[in-house]
Amino acid sequence: MKRAIPIAIALVFLSYKDAKAASTEDFESWGKTYTQRVLPLAELYCFDCHDADTKKGELDLQRFGDLSAVRADPKTWQNVLFQLETGEMQPKDKPQLSAEDRTFLLDWVERYLHAEAGAQAGDPGPVMIRRLSNVEYTYTIHDLTGIDSLAPAREFPVDGAAGEGFTNVGEALTMSPALVGKYLDAAKEVAEHAVLLPEGIEFSRYTSRRDQTNELIARKKKSIIAILMRSRVTICHRISRASNSPIVLENYCPSRSTWRQR
Ligand code: HEC
Repeated sequence: MKRAIPIAIALVFLSYKDAKAASTEDFESWGKTYTQRVLPLAELYCFDCHDADTKKGELDLQRFGDLSAVRADPKTWQNVLFQLETGEMQPKDKPQLSAEDRTFLLDWVERYLHAEAGAQAGDPGPVMIRRLSNVEYTYTIHDLTGIDSLAPAREFPVDGAAGEGFTNVGEALTMSPALVGKYLDAAKEVAEHAVLLPEGIEFSRYTSRRDQTNELIARKKKSIIAILMRSRVTICHRISRASNSPIVLENYCPSRSTWRQR
């Protein structure tokens, strides 16, 4: 099993490399068809209105001189596909594409967009580094400390909603020098609940040393009792099960702890 993990990772990497290699080759052939067939058709039937000077509907198709230009802006080609599919383009009173050319063009754009989507799959595009929203921050502190009464974001400004109306969008979660100051204050407040113990850090609901000590002692007492209770239950269970088994319980009972560890 241990050996399977690195092998699996290696295989993922290999298949990833294969996929990449295949798509690069594909794009070479997409590039050739684009220059040899798509571009000349666009020149004949679209440039009248969509070259760099005319740009009807704010669309300049002439700037797509080769496939790499197309690949830099597939969104425009989604629009081209839509216009071709709906029959909006090119206008009816102009020389029309032959049925064959039209089918070819539609098919090419559709299949190219599909290949592009495949090549970009898994890439979310530029991702904004985002801070936690106030709610996320509060819940994270609750999870880390186990103290639900903490309200560290109390003094933070309210998170703004982005255009979409969500408060957890990276662009809307801005950070300002003033907010950094508030984060530090919040962290100090949380740190006051930390209790340093030989085995690590624990958090207490209280901030005074005396209250913290009392709370932790009470907590430890509870867990020690729980451990004792559990071992008793296990032993009783074993005893009842052992009554018709060859295990001689008396041999184990005096050294209970050793027995339980096995
Ligand atoms: C006779 C002029 C003319 C020709 C030829 C023409 N178009 Fe258009 N195209 C227009 C006009 C005008 C608009 C703007 C329409 C509007 O805004 O309602 C437009 C809009 C578009 C749009 C939408 C742009 C946008 O962003 O909204 C696309 C895509 C498009 N054309 C693609 C093509 C393609 C592909 C061809 C060739 C097959 C073509 N057009 C041929 C005049 C033309």
